[in-house]
Amino acid sequence: MEESSRAIGLLDSGVGGLTVAREIFKLLPKEDIIYYGDTLHLPYGPKDLNLVREYVEKIIRYLISKKNVKAVVIACNTATSAALDHVQKKFEIPIFGMIKSAAAKAVEISSRQKIAVIGTEGTVNSFAYQNAILKLNNRAELYAEACPKFVDLVEQGKFDGAAVEKTARNYLLPLIEAEVDSLILGCTHFPYLSPLLAKIMGTKVTLINPAHEMAVEVRDKLTEIDLLKKSPAEQPEHRFIVSDRSRISRRFLEHGRKFLGLEALNFKEENIFSKEYNWEESI
Ligand code: DGL
Repeated sequence: MEESSRAIGLLDSGVGGLTVAREIFKLLPKEDIIYYGDTLHLPYGPKDLNLVREYVEKIIRYLISKKNVKAVVIACNTATSAALDHVQKKFEIPIFGMIKSAAAKAVEISSRQKIAVIGTEGTVNSFAYQNAILKLNNRAELYAEACPKFVDLVEQGKFDGAAVEKTARNYLLPLIEAEVDSLILGCTHFPYLSPLLAKIMGTKVTLINPAHEMAVEVRDKLTEIDLLKKSPAEQPEHRFIVSDRSRISRRFLEHGRKFLGLEALNFKEENIFSKEYNWEESI
């Protein structure tokens, strides 16, 4: 099969990465996509980043050897923080991550360079966003807050209301007081909370969705290296696979389906982490 006709692989710790898939579908509507959500190990946010790196490496090995993908998109901020540099060195196909393009956007648009990042503990403590921003402007003023409760709230389908707003105000207060001018939503789940976060931060603060910035990067890079499909089918194939189907939140999936504008969103289970998984069997 011609290299450019192959699918693009997306990976995340679960189904939160559908916010990223949505942006990829929008900008690359003709491409076949294989999405792998590691629901067995969800959430990645509080886990040791060395362990997350091992999971990510295994999923990419699977996407390449079993699904023959031409490129991989790490559609998860924690996984990108933990593993991007490592897997880019390890594998030969193009591998994209969440952080670089959002950091560039923040530096480009922040008038006073007071930039805030919110994400999981893993992402914030890895300093990956902070380093990416400082690489572009070492005088940027950085603020970072881990907001782990946001992940749980979104998984439960809670995006607004008094209790959610109270939690959000507590997390965001230091950023409001610091008068930041941009806020990077450094977690797959946070775009669901965008209306609330925008309301709390006020009109002077620009929210940046890394999923969109990365989709632009993926499109531009694959165009540049001539890796987009040459003769696209009318209906591209989108496949969704998880490591444990019993660990998908139904509530969240309902919202995910609406968010993506999909009638049906069916997940196949392939537990590549089980001892019985057959790595030898051909695709
Ligand atoms: N996908 C993760 C991220 O973007 C959030 C959920 C998790 O902790 O696994 O950081």
